[in-house]
Formats: sequence, C-alpha cells, structure tokens
Amino acid sequence: MTLARFVDPLPLPALAKPVGQRAHPAYPGKQLPLYRMEMRAFKTQLHRDLPATPLWGYGGTFPGPTLLAQRNHPLLIEWANALPEKHFLPIDHTIHGAERDKPQVRTVAHVHGARVSPSSDGYPEEWFAPGHATLSHYPNAQDAATLWYHDHAMGITRLNIYAGLLGAYLIHDDAEQSLGLPSGDCDLPLILCDRLIAKDGQLYYPVSDDPQAPWVSECNGNAILCNGKLFPFLEVEPRRYRLRLINAANTRFYEMSLSGGLSLTQIASDQGLLAAPVSRQRVTLYPAERADVVIDFSGMDGKHVQLRQQAEAIMEFRVRDRGRRDTGTMPATLRTIERLAPASAVRDRVLSLGEQDDAGGSAMMMMLGGKHWSAPVTEDPRQDTTEIWSMVNLTGDAHPMHLHLVRFQVLERRPFDLFAWNESKTLKYTGPAIPPTPEEMGWKDTVRADPGMVTRIIARFEGEPGRYVWHCHLLEHEDNEMMRPFQLLPA
Ligand code: C2O
Ligand code: CU
Repeated sequence: MTLARFVDPLPLPALAKPVGQRAHPAYPGKQLPLYRMEMRAFKTQLHRDLPATPLWGYGGTFPGPTLLAQRNHPLLIEWANALPEKHFLPIDHTIHGAERDKPQVRTVAHVHGARVSPSSDGYPEEWFAPGHATLSHYPNAQDAATLWYHDHAMGITRLNIYAGLLGAYLIHDDAEQSLGLPSGDCDLPLILCDRLIAKDGQLYYPVSDDPQAPWVSECNGNAILCNGKLFPFLEVEPRRYRLRLINAANTRFYEMSLSGGLSLTQIASDQGLLAAPVSRQRVTLYPAERADVVIDFSGMDGKHVQLRQQAEAIMEFRVRDRGRRDTGTMPATLRTIERLAPASAVRDRVLSLGEQDDAGGSAMMMMLGGKHWSAPVTEDPRQDTTEIWSMVNLTGDAHPMHLHLVRFQVLERRPFDLFAWNESKTLKYTGPAIPPTPEEMGWKDTVRADPGMVTRIIARFEGEPGRYVWHCHLLEHEDNEMMRPFQLLPA
C-alpha cells in the first residue's frame, strides 16, 4: 500500500469538557467536575486517500478526547458503553474471561499511571456491556505526568484498544508550570500506534490457523498512526514544542528520531519530569511507555523536519514563522528525584516472566510467577511499605511490565543463568548489574524486562488498600494469562 505522505494535518484530540458537577462520597462537601466519556462506533478517514475506517472510540473519536487535570483537583468520569452488541474483531473464546457465556462486547476503562482507589481503577473483571455505564473518581493527587486511558476488559483488551478505545490524560502541577516549558498550543500529545489496514480502509486483526482459537501472540501493523492519522504533517513555528509521546501499540516498540540529525530533549518519562533534561538522538518506547520531549525549531523557518520510526518517516513538521517568539529557555534541572534505597525494602519478590507451571498446558501461554490469572493472589504488599520486585525473564522477548497504582524506580538489569533457574529455581547471576540509563532514572510505571535478564524495580506501595493488577503491556500477552492481581493490604 503506497500512500501519499504528509497530506493530512495532524489531528489534535479535542479537550474533554465537563458536562456538569456532582458530589461524591469520597470527597465530602465538594462538588466535582463531571466528565462523560461515551464509547461509540464511528467511521473516520485514517488518510486522505483511504475510504473511511470503522472504529470504536471514546466520544466517538480516535484517539478519544484529552483529559486535562490539575494536581489535587479531583474529577469524576462517567464511562458509558454505547457500543454495538457485536464485536468487529475476532474474539478467542478459549481465552480466560472471554468465554461464550459472556457478552461479546464488554468494556472497562483504566487510566494508566493514575493513583486511584480499587473501585475506580478499571479492574479487568468489572466490565460492563453496551447500555451500561460506571462512575469513576480520580483524585489526581500525584505529580504532573503524561498518563493515558484505555480499555482493560478481561480477555479482549487487545481487541478493544485496537478498535480505538484509548486517549491521553494529562496531569499538570504548579512545580512543572513554573519551569517555563512550552505550554498551551505548543504542548501536544502524540499518540503512536500501528494497525493493519487494508486497501478498503478496514482494520484487520491477525488470527491463528485455528478458527476455534484465533489468538495470536503478537500484532504488528502495516501502518503507524500519529494521533489516528497516517503520515500527517504539523505546521509549527520556529520555537520550542513539547511533544508527549505515548506508545499505545499492541506489540510494537518504537525508535523515534528526527531527520537532519536534529536532537530531541527528553524531559519526562512515564510518571513525570526527569531530574534534568536528557538530549537524545533516538527515543525508544515500548508499549505503554511515555516520553515527553522538547523539540526546538528555532531558526528553522521554511524547513521541513520528519519524525522517524526507525528508518521510516511517519510524520512531518513544517516550520513557518508567524511572528510569535519563544522567550523561555530549558532549565538545567527539572525536579529533585529522591532515589529509593534498596535497604528500605521490606521484601524482594522474585517473579518469573513466562514460566509454565503445568507441563500439559498451552505451549503459547505466558504467565507471571508461574501462575494463571485465576490462581489466588500471591503479590500482597502492605500499604506504605517499600518492596523490590525482581522480574526474571525466562522468554526470548522483552516484555514491558506495568504495575497499577504505584510509580517505581528501575534499580538494575542483570544477566542470569537460565539453566540453573530451570534446574532448581535458583537465581544465579552471570554478570554485573547494568544500571538504568539517564532517561530511565525518573519515575516509571512500565519497564522493559529484557530477555536473559532479571529486571529489578523498587516501589513504595502507597494508596488505598484493595485489589489491583500487574501485567505485561504487550496486549496479546496481557489477554492470555500474562496478568496477575495484586492485593494492597492495609497498613
Ligand atoms: Cu495500560 Cu493495566 O494498563
Ligand atoms: Cu509479554
């Protein structure tokens, strides 16, 4: 499929607007802004020369409207399922949670990276069918960060997100707003995801050879969408811009760079600002990871700059002077990030990625800690304690591992002896620990667990006790057992 490049403007998702105010028992005596996010089927052109593509989206758009929140200003969202009764993508009914006795179309929204109570976190089994809605509350009591929201329904998350159920959720705070970073219309979300798109504009989702069990372990598209468009362009002024890169893909990781050797300055990762800006030629993002980057187009009037994913140009910036000037400069430091001390951890959990505990089970299944989703909870941190999780990757692939509720720091990655593990479940390191790179030294909520490595993270488990989840963010893995509940026990 050869399509003309850079003929459509980059879509900027609309800002979500409150539909009213409402009281909520979690915030006595307060009226909170109420948003309503209705999931609807709709059609849109992903490219000027393609017929319209049927999709699902929050607010009938893809990506959905951007939610803008301010730290410590709680808000309410009513998530409403107004989708059709039938799914348009291939459900695998042999997958746990997607059996034939369940409605085909089920949704539950999760704000990725938000610290919320269990009832508002979008627990995968708390899905609801078309015609139903649920009210969630978001305290926004956390640092400024680029979060995103997406579907999380048990056994069909990969299909619901692929269909278009995703959007950006941005939290601002005073500290960040005092830094003079590009703001307003110079601060834009750039949501990246790939899709398999046919000539007729239809979205395709790959299937296995077995019509009874169509699940596949990965889904890579033939087209990379930027805010829902193929090869868009954006007119910019000769000044600095802040782009919030979000990898919303099912499987693919992105290696982003700019043409002409222009560098990107990374200022934030998943959970907000880094301690200091990091100049980079290339920004790698695994599914669900975010990077806020500042690009400086000063002095480039009339020039075109392309954004590349590996060697392919996927988007173009066109610099045009409209007389506005950028007076800000990049601060040398952005915030203080206190490193969590490993000695403060009350526990080091050794958790395998991709182990089978039942030899007779499906060969394609990947599990966490050797356990299925439905096994009793084994990860049960106590509120306000610090834990280390050592994730032992037994597979040949990297898995982006995500914990709900908490932010964490990456301690290290360290090679280990797979044979020793398989023989006797003992962890034998075979080389020195590799410390995180500067852009991984900030707060994270998703971490790349490399093959052959133990990836160690440290987190303080603050929040409301109850049930949350942790999982691989390759959506095909997440849907097929690479997800486990965790229970936050009261202090
Ligand atoms: Cu981005 Cu459990 O989710
Ligand atoms: Cu995985």
